Order: sequence, then C-alpha cells, then structure tokens
Amino acid sequence: MSKICGGIFTSHVPGIGKAIAQNLQNDPYWKPFFDGFDPIHRWLAAEKPDVAVVFYNDHGLNFFLDKMPTFAIGAANEYRHEDEGWGIAFARPFQGHADLSWHIIEHVVASEFDPVMCQAMTVDHAVAVPFELCWPGKDAFPTKLIPIAINTVQHPLPSPKRCHDLGKAVGRAIESWGGNEKVVIFGTGGLSHQLEGERAGHINVDYDKFCLRNLAPDPEALLQHDTLDIVELAGSQGVEILNWIAARGALTGSVRELASNYHVPISNTAAATVLLSHSERVLA
Ligand code: DHB
Ligand code: FE
Repeated sequence: MSKICGGIFTSHVPGIGKAIAQNLQNDPYWKPFFDGFDPIHRWLAAEKPDVAVVFYNDHGLNFFLDKMPTFAIGAANEYRHEDEGWGIAFARPFQGHADLSWHIIEHVVASEFDPVMCQAMTVDHAVAVPFELCWPGKDAFPTKLIPIAINTVQHPLPSPKRCHDLGKAVGRAIESWGGNEKVVIFGTGGLSHQLEGERAGHINVDYDKFCLRNLAPDPEALLQHDTLDIVELAGSQGVEILNWIAARGALTGSVRELASNYHVPISNTAAATVLLSHSERVLA
C-alpha cells in the first residue's frame, strides 16, 4: 500500500523564484527564509518520496476569472510551469502520475466532491516555487507531481471545512491505492498577505502564529473562521491558508512537527515553512 510520509507547507511568493534564478539564497534579505529549507532538504534526502500531491491555487495561468473551478485535480503524465506575468519560467518539467490521479479522482467523487479533471494542465508559481525550493539544482525532479487546485481567487470560495474534508478524502484515497509509492503532501501559499487595495501590505502576525501553533496538533481550530473572516484576518490573499488546511486534512494519521520557520516579510507576505512527519493510523 502507498504511504503518506509527511507534509510540507510553504509560502509560494513569486519573488522567491526570482531569488532562486539570481542565486540570492545567501543574500541577507533572503537567507532567513531559505535557511528554513535546510531541515526539509535533509528530510527529503532521507525519505525520498515518489509522489508529491500539491494543494495550491492557480493565479490566472491555467484558470482565469471566466472559468474558475472550486476544485481541480491534474490527471496528466507531465505538467509544465509557465510564466503568468512575474518574469520567471522554470524549465524543469514535472512528471505526473496519471494512474494515481485517477484513483484520487474516483475516490473523491465517490466521497461527493465534484472536481474538474484536468488531463492537460499548466502549473504556476504556486507549484513551481515550492518544487524549486525543495529540490534545488538542475537535475530532473526526483518526485512526481499530482496538482490539486483550490479556488482562493474568485469569490465565493470553498469553506475551510470543505477544503479540510477534501484533504481527508484525498488522504484516504492515497492510503487505499494499491501501489507502494511514498507520498508527500504539500500545501502552498500564505501566510497573511494582501496585494491590492487600501490594505495592501496587510500582515497579521497573531493570526499567522495561531495557524502555525495549531496546524499540527489541532487543525480543526483553523476551521472556526469562515472564508470571509480569514480574508479580514489574513488579507485577500492570506486566504491561501485554505491550501494548507486541505493539505493538513490529507494527513489522517498521527503527525509530528519536525521544523517550522516564520519570517516577515518576503515581498508583501508573511512567509512560513513547516515540515510535518506522518505515520498511519493504527487500526484497533
Ligand atoms: C506575492 C505573494 C503571493 O502568494 C502571490 O501569489 C503573488 C505575490 C507577494 O507577496 O509578492
Ligand atoms: Fe499566491
């Protein structure tokens, strides 16, 4: 049976991608953020996951305001990053795992979710930046990608509970897959940030710390705020925490926090990185 070995939660600010392209990891502005990936690199080198299931939001590359699915699941054998306007385009392709994607889709539809199924899909900075952070260098990515896009852009957005429940369904799907892949779950985006309007630059350290404190031991605490509360608390893009809430839902067994890093600001964003290990529930 395939196994979920852990969760990686990280901001996906496009400027991080530019810093990688310009080799600025040790620059004083960037170092405190990039240093947060040292434990993740060590953990990935030891765990060697075969597949990454990535909960993220598309920012106008594959979907736009004219057609915006609440949930979309990639079912391709390859994905590519394209520049949707930030001036970065990473060349390394992402290998997919269409068979496991279809298994996840079958399972979540049986659990009464209705995702858009994408047999062709481009992925934006919200997938590419986390992959580049986790597996720096020029070699092909050692881990396959299954992208799951959540609408955090065009209101009405799904509720935190709905995202958490989707994550749980995805977690159960992976655990019931007959292969022997090791799977890591990603949640990308956040933490608090707002890019436009009168509150541009809004950051809420108290809310971010509340999320970081509860993510591992009590993720349901994050469900007490509805989507519009989160916009108010964390900013109009801070609502990307929905991706983290879904990813945490996929870790249905016991989790342990192995690393956590919080650094304000990167660009307009309170940047955070968390690594959780995961072991299966022991069935009595
Ligand atoms: C920024 C953050 C994001 O999450 C994003 O998608 C784009 C830009 C920023 O802070 O610059
Ligand atoms: Fe974003």
